Amino acid sequence: MTLDAAWTAFEAAAHATEAAPTRIVDLFSAEPDRLRRFSVEAAGLSVDLSKQALTAAGLEAGLALVRTAKVEAARGRMFEGFAINTSEGRAVLHPALRAPDGAAYTALGEPVSGEVEGVRGRMKALADDLRSGAVRGATGEAFKAVVHIGIGGSDLGPRLVWEALRPLDGPIELRFVANVDGGEIAAALHGLDPRSTLVVLVSKTFTTQETLANANVARAWLAGTLGEADAGKHLAAVSAAPDKAVAFGVAEDRVFGFADWVGGRFSIWSAVGLSCAIGLGYARFAEFLAGAAAMDAHFLEAPLERNAPVLMALAEVWNRNGLGRAVRAVVPYAQRLRLLPDFLQQLEMESNGKRVTREGAPVARATAVAVFGDAGTNGQHAFFQMLHQGTDIIPVDIVLAARGEGSSDMNAKLLANGIAQAEALMVGRSEAEVRAELEAKGMDAAEIATLAPQRTFPGDRPSTTIVMDALEPQALGALIALYEHKVFVEGVLWGINSFDQWGVELGKTLAVRILGELEGGALLPHDPSTAALIGRLKG
Ligand code: F6P
Repeated sequence: MTLDAAWTAFEAAAHATEAAPTRIVDLFSAEPDRLRRFSVEAAGLSVDLSKQALTAAGLEAGLALVRTAKVEAARGRMFEGFAINTSEGRAVLHPALRAPDGAAYTALGEPVSGEVEGVRGRMKALADDLRSGAVRGATGEAFKAVVHIGIGGSDLGPRLVWEALRPLDGPIELRFVANVDGGEIAAALHGLDPRSTLVVLVSKTFTTQETLANANVARAWLAGTLGEADAGKHLAAVSAAPDKAVAFGVAEDRVFGFADWVGGRFSIWSAVGLSCAIGLGYARFAEFLAGAAAMDAHFLEAPLERNAPVLMALAEVWNRNGLGRAVRAVVPYAQRLRLLPDFLQQLEMESNGKRVTREGAPVARATAVAVFGDAGTNGQHAFFQMLHQGTDIIPVDIVLAARGEGSSDMNAKLLANGIAQAEALMVGRSEAEVRAELEAKGMDAAEIATLAPQRTFPGDRPSTTIVMDALEPQALGALIALYEHKVFVEGVLWGINSFDQWGVELGKTLAVRILGELEGGALLPHDPSTAALIGRLKG
C-alpha cells in the first residue's frame, strides 16, 4: 500500500462516520472491547482515548497508516542519532538527556552519553552546593533566589516544571523572566537582594534579543550592589554556544553546555533544567528525567496498538485530517499544571506548524492544530461554554491527578469536575430530556420552544483523559515525554520536519530593522500601514 492510499483509507473511515453517524457514547455498545482497546498504561500514566470519536475501524486503518508511514523505522532513526532534522543536518536526541547513566547514545555516529553525564554531574554539584550553602555569593551570603532568564524553549519547560513541583518552602526561590518588557524583569527582581541572588542566563544560541536585553538589565542590577568585578560571580549560563556566554562575562566553570541535537522546545531535560535542579534539589530533577526515560522505553517497546504516543497521534489526525478539527483544548485539573497548555503550544505548534514536507513539497494534508487551555476548573468558567455548545467541535485533553494537594475533599471536587466534563462533552443532554424537565416545572409551550434548544447539549464531543497517581516528578516527566513523542509520530505521518522552526525567523529580522527606525535611524520603505505604525510609535 502507498502512503497516500493508507491516508485515503484512514480518512475514508472517518468520513464514513459522518455519512452514517454513530455517537461516541454508542460506540461502547457497538464495539464491546472499546474501553480496553482505547485505554493504555504508559510509564505510570493511564491514557483513556475511548471517549474519542476514533472508531475501531478507524484505529485499524490508522495502525495501517502508521506502518505504511514507517513510523517505527523513523523512531529508530531518532533514537539512533541520525540527522532527522534534515533542514539543519542535526540529530534529535533529547531521549539521550534523560537516559540512565551508562547509556550509549550516539549523534551522527559520535558518542554523546559521556558528555551528557558529565554535564549532569556538574549540574548536581552546583545544585547541591548552592542549596547547602557550600557555594556562596561574592559577599559571603548564601544564595536564596535564582532568576532564570530565557524565552521559548529556554523558558516554558523550566517554568512549567517549577510551577508544577515547587515546594511551598524551599531554601531557594525561582523567578522567571522571558519577555523583552521591562515590566517583567522589574517584577522578577523586585524584593530580591543581589547579594543572595544567582542569575541563570539560558539561551541555546545566546543571540536571542529578548534574553540578551534582560541579561544586560540583570547584570547591571547585580553590579549596582556588588560592583562590576563581582557581578560575574552571581551569573551562570546554559547554552549550546558556551563561548558566547563566556564573552558575555560568565565564568567558564559556571557555563553549562548542551549540544545542537537538543531542540529548544525539547531542552528541559538538558542543562536548561539547571534552575529547576537548584530549586527542587537534584534528586527530584533526576526523578523527572527518569519519568521521561520510562516513557521513552514505552514508546520504543509497546506494540503500536498499545503505544500511547501512537494512539494519541492517531486520535489527533482522525480529528484533524478525518474530521477537519483545527483546534484542541488542554485542561489539566491541577492548578500547578496551568502552564501545560502554554508549554504544549510551543511543543506542538512550533514543531508541526509546517506547510511543506521534508523534501520541500507542499504538504498533502493539514498539519498542527492550534492548542489552548487553562487549568480546570478555571477553564470551565471561561471557555467551556464554547466546548459544550459552540458551533465548532474542539477535542479536549483532560489531565487528572488521583491524589492531589490539600484536603481529600477538595481533590474529590476537582476530580469530580474533570470526570463530569468529559462525560458531559460526550453524552450531552437531549432536547427531549430538557423539554420533559421544563414541562415538569409547568413552563408553557411557547417558552419551552424558545428555551429548550438553548439548554440542550449536543454531546458527541471527543476527549482524552490522562490520569496520574499524583503530580510528582516522575509523572510530570512521563507526561511531557508522552506529548513529545505524539508530536514526533504526527510529524512522520504528515511527512514534515518537526524539529526546525524557520517560521520564526522573518519577524525577528524585520524587528531588528524596525528597531533601528524606532530609535531614530533612517526610515525604510514599508507598506502604508507599517509605515504609519512606525511613525506613530517612534520616539
Ligand atoms: O521562538 C524561536 C526560538 O528559536 C525557539 O525555538 C527557542 O526555544 C527560542 O527561540 C529561544 O531560543 P534560544 O534558546 O536560542 O534563546
